[in-house]
Amino acid sequence: MSSEKSGSPKRKTIIEPFKIKMVEPLPMTTREQRQEILKAAGYNLFTVAAKNVTFDFLTDSGTTAMSAKQWAAMMVADESYAGSQSFERFDKAVKNVTGYNFVIPTHQGRAAERLLFSVLVKSGHKVPSNNHFDTTRANIEFMNAEAADLVIEEGKDPQNTHPFKGNIDLKKLESFCREYQGKIPCGMLTITNNTGGGQPVSLENIKGCSEIYHKYNIPFIIDVCRFAENAFFIKDREPGQKNRSIKDIVAEIFSYADGCMMSAKKDGMVNIGGFIALKESKWVDQLRNMLILTEGFPTYGGLAARDLEALAVGLEEAMDENYLSYRIAVSKYMAQGLNKAGIPTLQPPGGHAVYIDAKAFLPHIPPEQFPGQALVCELYLSEGIRACEIGSVMFGAKKDGKFIPSKMELVRLAFPRRVYTQSHFDYILEGMADIVARKNELKGLKMTYEPPFLRHFTARFELL
Ligand code: F0G
Repeated sequence: MSSEKSGSPKRKTIIEPFKIKMVEPLPMTTREQRQEILKAAGYNLFTVAAKNVTFDFLTDSGTTAMSAKQWAAMMVADESYAGSQSFERFDKAVKNVTGYNFVIPTHQGRAAERLLFSVLVKSGHKVPSNNHFDTTRANIEFMNAEAADLVIEEGKDPQNTHPFKGNIDLKKLESFCREYQGKIPCGMLTITNNTGGGQPVSLENIKGCSEIYHKYNIPFIIDVCRFAENAFFIKDREPGQKNRSIKDIVAEIFSYADGCMMSAKKDGMVNIGGFIALKESKWVDQLRNMLILTEGFPTYGGLAARDLEALAVGLEEAMDENYLSYRIAVSKYMAQGLNKAGIPTLQPPGGHAVYIDAKAFLPHIPPEQFPGQALVCELYLSEGIRACEIGSVMFGAKKDGKFIPSKMELVRLAFPRRVYTQSHFDYILEGMADIVARKNELKGLKMTYEPPFLRHFTARFELL
């Protein structure tokens, strides 16, 4: 992997900044076996067993390889039900990173979302953001409220190379806040903007967003599950930020908001965990009472103490600049390789993932036949890759019997942290030429089953 910008001044190659102490075999299958497996899974990769997946790029969430230091911390965990030393260490680590005073552990991001929204959001409310992640949106809608996406126009154009495509449109935000004053219990921002392609938000935009929310007395809550990756992009791309440390940038990001929700399964560098952290005490008692009801006592929040220990160490490791320059180089390297093979990807590549533009790659498959899902199936058949559709399967809708497609038809290859090596990526890129050669033979799909919420997880398909 190479990067002119983020590599050392002497070398172009960016290496994995770790050595390997424990290994796990890669599952290997034949194309024939994968054909059978895919059919039995209803052409939905979420229902394929992991033992049948060679390269699992379904998500970067909870799939991190932990460090020796994290495993060591887990061994000294204090599993007391109340007030454990592990909680103290976790609490301190979160306060250190966020600068906030109140920390509420949860078992993952969506538990934090459900808790916070059940306390803040009422029927008829509206919650703006750049783009809400799908569980965030679902948890807002579950309270009979509206989740509004106000990302900048550049963020919706797959080929636009704007350096901060995750930015929220400040003009739209201002008029939204003016129009719905009194109906907005909190305003949000997702960093990096996963739904919009893992795109970062600039420091200037975070500040501007904060000023607007505060002008209208709206508490500002950031979804910070990829805060460290976002900070690296700020350092790399935003004028005037080059000479600052990641920690310094991170501190500034948090300073603009009133609180945050975090799925620690991403930049927490752990396999499970999350939290809400808040500057002020206003909702804390209510949140803790709800936490006790459904997650656990406020000093463990549904996690084992060893999870809290791993997270306390992970938050620090995520801000290591050697780690981050390697991390961001992975998606850049994969995007360049895919583009060279003739596979268009959303530009610029995101932090945790590369998003293939399936609409541009498979123009012969119309949105109602799910071009993204067709490509997901082909990536599995050809390479044993598990990827995730972010298009009309995830976001398409029906209104009055009419199909409304998603704005983009993307396929996300999300890269687990510290798991795969450059030779894995080179092997995958080598196989892409085959897929490109066969692309006109790829067929669309028909959805034969869908559940009422978050249908992409359990929907089933038939080949057309
Ligand atoms: N917010 C964002 C921006 C996310 O990307 C996710 C999860 C969540 C909230 C919810 O966190 O999974 O811990 O409950 N994203 C995963 C993904 C699932 O694959 O992108 P969670």
